Amino acid sequence: MEETKWNTRLGLGWAEGLVAVLFFLLLHYIRHRHKHLISWPLLRELPSMIINFPRTHEWGTTILRAAGGTIAFRGPIFTGMRVVLTCDPCNVEYILKTRFSNFPKGPDFHEMFHELMGDGIFNTDGDEWQAQRRTANAHVHSKAFRDFVNKTSHQLSSDRLVPILRKAAVDGAVIDLQDLTMRYTMDAACAAVFGEAVGCLAPELPQVPFVTAMDEAQQAVVARHVLPHKWWKVMRWLGLGMEPLLARGVHTLDEFVANQVAQKRLERSGGNGGDLLSIYTTDVSAKTDNYLRDVAVNFLIAGRDTTGAALAWFFWLVSTHPEVEAKILVELKEKGTEDLRELHYLHAALSETLRLYPSVPLDHKGVVKEDILPDGTTVKPGNMLLYNIYAMGRMHWIWGNDCLEFKPERWLGQDGKFIPESGFRYLAFNGGPRTCLGKEVAYVQMKCVAAAVLPSFELQVVEGHEVLPKPTVILMMKNGLKMRVKERVAGNLHFPAKIINV
Ligand code: HEM
Repeated sequence: MEETKWNTRLGLGWAEGLVAVLFFLLLHYIRHRHKHLISWPLLRELPSMIINFPRTHEWGTTILRAAGGTIAFRGPIFTGMRVVLTCDPCNVEYILKTRFSNFPKGPDFHEMFHELMGDGIFNTDGDEWQAQRRTANAHVHSKAFRDFVNKTSHQLSSDRLVPILRKAAVDGAVIDLQDLTMRYTMDAACAAVFGEAVGCLAPELPQVPFVTAMDEAQQAVVARHVLPHKWWKVMRWLGLGMEPLLARGVHTLDEFVANQVAQKRLERSGGNGGDLLSIYTTDVSAKTDNYLRDVAVNFLIAGRDTTGAALAWFFWLVSTHPEVEAKILVELKEKGTEDLRELHYLHAALSETLRLYPSVPLDHKGVVKEDILPDGTTVKPGNMLLYNIYAMGRMHWIWGNDCLEFKPERWLGQDGKFIPESGFRYLAFNGGPRTCLGKEVAYVQMKCVAAAVLPSFELQVVEGHEVLPKPTVILMMKNGLKMRVKERVAGNLHFPAKIINV
């Protein structure tokens, strides 16, 4: 009786109920069958890709391990879709360096990102990219900029982030450390680009409209990736899906950046000079406002989420590896923070974090002319070429049998000094001519936070909190990083016995 009442209320008959149950069982079955790659009639590998999307990074690693480093997917018949996925360092070197000009980002990428990134360094290829790269390279590596980044990163970590953690420790509150590291890097990126932070780390942790606009615009552009090229254009035209969000976000962003650029132009003779916009505007070849807008947005996007996500994974790994934490603390005590370059162990721990949890887990390129990759895979114009940086850190044939372990020591020589990776097996900062321009800035920002936080606080993941990667362009934690903070009592560093004696 009760059952009939429910079915009637839901408008379901027995037949529909049965179909629903069968459908559920079928989905369940498919989900488990698709732990590996299965080719279906007509749809070919597309169902596998869709079903495994929520755990895309782990799944990509599993199938690449099984395939020996490279695999090709085909979309449904008649679509012509073909995706080549690789984590083979020889292939990646060939794509990013040896045959660099045959594998650009391509026109589809440019169009998809154009409203947001304009014609900035991230969104151009060929001569246009090269000219921008030359200018950006000079400015980012100038002494004025490096000193400015150093100063502002120290200030933000000690004067803004530490007080927030101290209050959480006193209140016994649970914090989302990932939210805090993202707030830190947003403020740090704005300081580096505009000369001042936007207040993300104010004590009340406010929602900053400019930051919300940037987040929404980025999400909307990412949503374009999962649609065929023509579809998102129609949706833009009709104002459907996330397209209005993108238009609104870009509008807010443009207004904010235009104000900053106008301000810099006014200050031109008397500005403090260390931030990127000041440096660009005092350049004799000072460009149009649009050019400066694109510089600012590209650098904000390049530097903010990448560094924020890396820091969250770093704190999680360190808090779950007390022996690593202890060694970082010893180094900080011995060497201080005057010269961050001297912190070799901390540098190794950050690099090891990015080996296992690269902020950009998957990157892609287009193909200009048909070519054969070093492992014999043929790639053709129209194919999508993906290199899986997340999987690269997890292949035993690249990093050895301990590849899944968090071991900063693998980066250190006998003398305890950091040995940089020269080959193409470590791609957290990309490789070849398009290597990340902000690597040094990122390490300074990350070291400043680690040096300010770790000696002062013990961080502990809240019991039962599950740390999982999110299937996003930047490798964030799906559920954030819920932690409890305890002020470290001086001298109470909880070193394991073997460390106390070193
Ligand atoms: C842990 C932090 C960071 C990581 C893991 C990282 C990683 C990367 C990666 C993988 C790329 C290549 C992206 C592509 O072309 O598809 C890249 C490019 C770039 N990064 Fe970073 N990045 C970080 C921080 C920064 C910071 C702080 C800045 C700015 C100060 C920055 C500036 C750039 C720029 C300008 C490019 C474009 C280079 C070009 O196309 O020539 N990055 N980064």
